[in-house]
Amino acid sequence: MKVLFVCLGNICRSPAAEGVFIHLLEKRGLSEQFTVDSAGTSGFHAGERADSRMRDHASRRGIELPSLSRQFVAKDFNIFDWIIVMDDSNFKNCARLANDEEQKAKLIKMADLCPNFSENEVPDPYYGGAAGFERVLDMVDEGCINLLEKLNG
Ligand code: 4NP
Repeated sequence: MKVLFVCLGNICRSPAAEGVFIHLLEKRGLSEQFTVDSAGTSGFHAGERADSRMRDHASRRGIELPSLSRQFVAKDFNIFDWIIVMDDSNFKNCARLANDEEQKAKLIKMADLCPNFSENEVPDPYYGGAAGFERVLDMVDEGCINLLEKLNG
């Protein structure tokens, strides 16, 4: 099973989701069954490590973020089984690169996996403070647990 997490810059939200999901798979002994990656709809930060603030907040929860930023490309629809986007803009930008409805159906909004959160999107923490980074981690924590449940039964 191949899972790709997508946000705008691929330096905050999607690297966090990738790291949290990898950590969860390790805890459950399921790492071998999954390929996990992340990407950004923009290439602004291509080649960069995750934002140091995002890495610090994740690290305090025992989660490392191995991601190097890269841009999402249409070919990702051929490679990945599921593509988890962080907000509506990510959804739209990925959807317009899909070849057909079958590819479009691979898109899942992370917020739809977070029934205990009122947000309809994972809020972009880039221009905000510490609370925003914590909120991202809280949301993707729940979302990743529910994602694994959905994919693994
Ligand atoms: P991300 O956050 O999409 O969660 O990685 C952002 C990172 C950088 C920018 C915007 C959002 N930016 O405008 O550079």
